Amino acid sequence: MDASGGGATEDEARRFARDFRAFLEWVHANASSGSANEVVALVAGYLGEAGRAESVVRRELPPFDHVNLQTALNHWLTLPGRRGDCRGVTTPPHWSGTSLTQLISGEGLPPLRIAAPELIDLPNGPGTTLACLTSALLLIDDHRGRYVVFVQGPDQHNNDLVVELAGLDVESAQAVFAELDVLRSRLNVYRGHVLDVAVNQMGGLELTFVVADAPPRDCVILPEAMLARLERHALSIAVHRDALLAAGQHLKRGLLLFGPPGTGKTHSTQYLIGQMSGYTRLIMTGRSLHAVGSVTGLARDLQPAVIVLEDVDLVASDRSFGPGTSTVLFDLLDAMDGAAPDADLMFVLTTNRADLLEPALAARPGRVDVAIEIALPDAEARRRLFDLYARAIPLDCSDADRDVMIERTDGVTASFLKELIRRATLEALQDDAELGAVRAEHVTRALDDLLDSAQTVTRTLLGIGADEIADAGPIDGPGYVFPSPAYRSTVRIRRGPTRY
Ligand SMILES: Nc1ncnc2c1ncn2[C@@H]1O[C@H](COP(=O)(O)OP(=O)(O)OP(=O)(O)O)[C@@H](O)[C@H]1O
Ligand SMILES: [Mg+2]
Repeated sequence: MDASGGGATEDEARRFARDFRAFLEWVHANASSGSANEVVALVAGYLGEAGRAESVVRRELPPFDHVNLQTALNHWLTLPGRRGDCRGVTTPPHWSGTSLTQLISGEGLPPLRIAAPELIDLPNGPGTTLACLTSALLLIDDHRGRYVVFVQGPDQHNNDLVVELAGLDVESAQAVFAELDVLRSRLNVYRGHVLDVAVNQMGGLELTFVVADAPPRDCVILPEAMLARLERHALSIAVHRDALLAAGQHLKRGLLLFGPPGTGKTHSTQYLIGQMSGYTRLIMTGRSLHAVGSVTGLARDLQPAVIVLEDVDLVASDRSFGPGTSTVLFDLLDAMDGAAPDADLMFVLTTNRADLLEPALAARPGRVDVAIEIALPDAEARRRLFDLYARAIPLDCSDADRDVMIERTDGVTASFLKELIRRATLEALQDDAELGAVRAEHVTRALDDLLDSAQTVTRTLLGIGADEIADAGPIDGPGYVFPSPAYRSTVRIRRGPTRY
């Protein structure tokens, strides 16, 4: 290179052009000499003339099923009477999506090589993984004859998981896929787990195992009747499942939790899903709510299942496919309705903007059969919350001091009280780094600070503000027909602008 930075010398340019031409010739020679390619030769040799004449049958699966496909294959390959030989197929970088038809015909191929199979280690449980084939040929010999299964996992260029089969007539190939389907469903690694649902850039679902960190019952501070109602709706169906079905009653159910931010909608949901250990629990929030249709299908396969739709108001007015199409909220309600009634499926919706949901719920009645308002804690609840969060600290406070705190915190949320204890602890640490005791004066200082009118924005940022504590009277006014008596008895939806 020209050290002065003025570009390549003529000599260098000529040398580069010669090398580049040689490289292109090499690529061309490797790409076009299909018959000489070792992968093509392997497939041809294994299938023979007759096998190669059969159609290739292709199956596409969602990427999150990669680990299930591998689980199914691992089992299927060990069944008696079957021999399977696995060969990795390496493709050049930036080249993906070679089809089995190409491997058979030898046409239009990149320079492929046989190698040890490449594996991607995917989670198959919370804290466990399974090595899954990404580009491999399985040479199978069983009662159906000799055939080839080509597995290609999703990669950065291709979002599909593709399984192809060659060497059998179409019906037999379909029978193989059906066997794998049964195993994928029976051994599904997601069944019974808590899963966070996300949607990737390409619109595909991504499932992540979550280690459920569910609060115990005594950490959920709600009026006892309300908590019992939540439990009855969520849990007792499971207990009476068979009797309900025998009596022709559906199992599908929808629960709406609404109320101001920080009052415990998510917290109560976490408690419930912690109790539903036999269930597949799918948690959706934000953008992933757009994928509710496919998630409902998945939940049906993995039932009994719970689908948690957090903060549904976030997508209340989004449109699934641009202007003029239905809103995501309508899609969501349609998906709830589309699920088979005898499926043991529970939908839990949370929102702090029930007013935004109201028109959609009125237009698509029957999806939510119980709606519960989780309101701001009353004095009794605040006392219990105070005690709950103070359990972890050395609180040195008289009953009279505590009464004052409870009175002064009228109108705040549960999360406010949790933050109050944290700040009181900080105040105490400032006085004594050893944290001898958190005294009333520390709590008072923390409370003064949090209630200071100048702290409005801080409270809002912490999600613990309740500046305008709504006097939420029932507003089942004209134009809104409550879908069911159960719903009518519990729902209270605010008209007009939200005042949380
Ligand atoms: N009823 C409650 N009992 C005990 N702790 C609670 C309760 N409500 C809230 N908390 C505490 O406050 C935190 C925040 O509450 P949570 O996330 O459940 O509020 P939310 O109602 O879902 O609010 P948002 O509408 O903003 O989603 C919880 O993690 C929990 O620690
Ligand atoms: Mg929440």
